[in-house]
Amino acid sequence: MKPLLIESWLPIEAIGAESQRERGASSALPPLYFLHVWWARRPLTASRAAILASVLPQWNADFPAHLREKFPNEATYHQWVEFLIGIRGDPVKGRKLVTWAKDKGIKLDFHPYGGAPRAFTVNPSTEDLQTMGDLLEWTWGKRDLSVLDSFAGGGSIPFESLRYGFITYASDLNPVAAVILKATLDYPARFGPALSDEIRKWGRRINEIASDRLSRFFPMPQGERIRRYLWARTVVCPSTGKLIPLSPNWWLSKEGVPFSVHLIVEPEMENVHFEIIRGEEVSRYDPNVGTISRGIARSPWTGETISGDYIKAEAQAGRMAQIIYALSIQTSHGYDFRAPTAIDLEAVHLADLALAESLPRWEANGLLPNESVPVGLKTSELHRYGMSRWVDLFSPRQLLTLLTYYEVFAEIKDDLRRELGEEKSSAVETYIAFILSKCANYNSRLSIWHPLRATMANTFDRHDFGFAWSHGEMTLPNDGFLWAVDQITDAYKGLSKLSNSVQRSFWSANPETARKRLEIHQVSASNLSYLGDNTIEHICLDPPYYDNVQYAELSDFFYVWLKRSVGHLYPEFFRDELTNKDDEAVANPARFKDLTPGPSPKGRGGAGKAKELAEKDYENKMTAAFREMYRVLRPDGSLTVMFTHKRVEAWDTLASALIGAGFAIKASWPVHTESEHSLHQAKKNAARSTILLVCRKRTSPPSPLLEGEGGGG
Ligand SMILES: C[S@@+](CC[C@H](N)C(=O)[O-])C[C@H]1O[C@@H](n2cnc3c(N)ncnc32)[C@H](O)[C@@H]1O
Repeated sequence: MKPLLIESWLPIEAIGAESQRERGASSALPPLYFLHVWWARRPLTASRAAILASVLPQWNADFPAHLREKFPNEATYHQWVEFLIGIRGDPVKGRKLVTWAKDKGIKLDFHPYGGAPRAFTVNPSTEDLQTMGDLLEWTWGKRDLSVLDSFAGGGSIPFESLRYGFITYASDLNPVAAVILKATLDYPARFGPALSDEIRKWGRRINEIASDRLSRFFPMPQGERIRRYLWARTVVCPSTGKLIPLSPNWWLSKEGVPFSVHLIVEPEMENVHFEIIRGEEVSRYDPNVGTISRGIARSPWTGETISGDYIKAEAQAGRMAQIIYALSIQTSHGYDFRAPTAIDLEAVHLADLALAESLPRWEANGLLPNESVPVGLKTSELHRYGMSRWVDLFSPRQLLTLLTYYEVFAEIKDDLRRELGEEKSSAVETYIAFILSKCANYNSRLSIWHPLRATMANTFDRHDFGFAWSHGEMTLPNDGFLWAVDQITDAYKGLSKLSNSVQRSFWSANPETARKRLEIHQVSASNLSYLGDNTIEHICLDPPYYDNVQYAELSDFFYVWLKRSVGHLYPEFFRDELTNKDDEAVANPARFKDLTPGPSPKGRGGAGKAKELAEKDYENKMTAAFREMYRVLRPDGSLTVMFTHKRVEAWDTLASALIGAGFAIKASWPVHTESEHSLHQAKKNAARSTILLVCRKRTSPPSPLLEGEGGGG
């Protein structure tokens, strides 16, 4: 067994700097991010570095002659490996310069990285791949290694594995992740950049038909383009019976010229009116004072306080509605805001009627995502505010619009198939489904308006279902849908550009063998029955971290729509009503709430006990997953686990699970990968370092599975 590079060396500072650079600007993230929401994606640079260093050997004086000639000493070899990872120049110095300039508020007038490309954009050259193959052959006795990620999520690790030509196995329990893996790993390499024209063409065709059906619900006054409608949720004032718009503040924009809304309420009025206030006038009324604070409202009609219980009860009884309080528009003078007019309100009324008319049809043909929202850790907030079915996350016009697009998509599927043939049309349909996912994500009752950036955020701005008192609505038929078409088309183009070099050569040489170089499965990491014993050279993964993200709970938002749009293409992924929570390796106390009415052995109450059980369940599942990895890994294979968690116990548990599964930890590397500016990271005060744990199989087999370990729970 030859020692591997990662067991003694890894350029962690350069990898950390490049990983942060990769995610430095939200508009210039790798294309994977723009394809579909997935939570906790790993940086590509860290992923490729982990894989390469875990399969390449340490420098050795016994290298064959031609490798000795190329790498006369360790330093030249390490330099080459950095180059193979895509690192050019001195990213550590560049990163320091960027941070320094940011702190000082200075705009640099030169490229801090000396013009070097970002590491993840670099594809390996044929010559370097040849050298890599020679090194692998010397180390493993073969050039074609198999790499597995059984917690593959959004696919960073398998994406990089494929770019370097490894035979790649990617699986995830979650069906939404499995479809994302198909769209990220398979189609871009198989069909190349040209498919983007088809995605755009079919996206536009759908828009033409759907916007025709929807235009009367989105009237556009002459000389104006409506960008977004801003809505506030409403309850009825208990004393007057009139509507109260609920908004924590009335800011519209804090960027450049400030804009706010002034609520006009006179006793003789039947309904509130809204006035747009701009520039210095904003200080006339304090926009920081809204009608709701900490769940308690104040009626603008009477000034009385309205309890949170009343608001929740109204919401649960289906009486919480919404009202437009402003429109973000563009005119020949630039961006502006205006108050809603009678024409805008009439269009909303028409949309309500149209939805009521079409709902029975959509219910009958199964297009309506009316599955119940399971009560979970992240979803209980939805229930508190009356959103107990997935459809409830959309206002009537949002729902009418989305369902119209889904219906048109269903109508054109036969044409698509006829024109493109089965394989290509499956790919195009998948990307169209992602366009629709994006539209749903930016058009729910949780898609908030950001006055600081004067733009809309998506439903998953935070990693939860935080209730929103106000939300934005895109004008999908006018330009919103086409925006989503552009986003997905560009993401596809970006992916095919990044993935083209090595994989394309496999596809052009022999599609049948190329097909065998990538397998995607939707299975639990504790049961990889698609793989034989001792078959994999390297496993690289980034498992879930306790309760950090509840993937299954969150992804149901997309699952219910994807099931309807592409469920027929991936029947094996969409067998169930909703995603599988029971086998998910996360610590989710909500799953144990009903089992824990009394105090825990440590004297803590039911909630504490549920948390304890959830953590134990997570640990058991991780142990079962590591045992399965032990089974499929070659005796001389390597396992590299990336792990990010601030809690020390998390480390203990992970290490014990690995050791219990039969692994020995050979090295650990801290890589400073996380962006300091991520809202989620900042909020959770999560660790900004990813630790890479490098493991090998111990010669003694793992201890037998203890009773109660692994599996469900
Ligand atoms: C940290 S994420 C992986 C992110 C991925 N590396 C990326 O870059 O996008 C962990 C993944 O584990 C998946 N997962 C959770 N429990 C699982 C299980 N029992 N088997 C397989 N996958 C599971 C989740 O669905 C999630 O996608």
